[in-house]
Amino acid sequence: MKIAIINGPNLNMLGKREKDHYGGFSLGELENYLKKEAPSDSLLFFQSNHEGQIVEFIHNLENEKVDAIIVNAGAYTHTSIALRDAFLSVKIPFVEVHISNVYAREDFRKLSYLSDIAAGVIAGLGKTGYKLAIEYFRETL
Ligand code: DQA
Repeated sequence: MKIAIINGPNLNMLGKREKDHYGGFSLGELENYLKKEAPSDSLLFFQSNHEGQIVEFIHNLENEKVDAIIVNAGAYTHTSIALRDAFLSVKIPFVEVHISNVYAREDFRKLSYLSDIAAGVIAGLGKTGYKLAIEYFRETL
């Protein structure tokens, strides 16, 4: 299976930012962990702090023949109609992942522009959430 794993703004700062919410692992460590957990899948990693770059990356995923997407859109989850529309413009199933439990934090983090069009949502399970999303696609696609 070919799976795109998209991390949005500030997730390049993992390991340095708000460790009580996001743990001590870096983005590189997260990606290595997933490569180890899914050696037989082709994982396409992408991180950007720019909304338009993420939109364009999503548009291109049909050409890339990607089977599934795992996305942690960071703060864009709570603000971006453009990202929602990008997901609606491609016919690729996606799972929304959050490292922290967004439901146990500020109220504004409870709103997601992606959840109702996602196959599912995983929040609060740290890097394990990404692995579980891969397992979900493995079992269902
Ligand atoms: C996050 C939660 C978001 O509210 C926040 O803006 C992030 C990370 C998470 O992984 O828990 O940047 O998506």
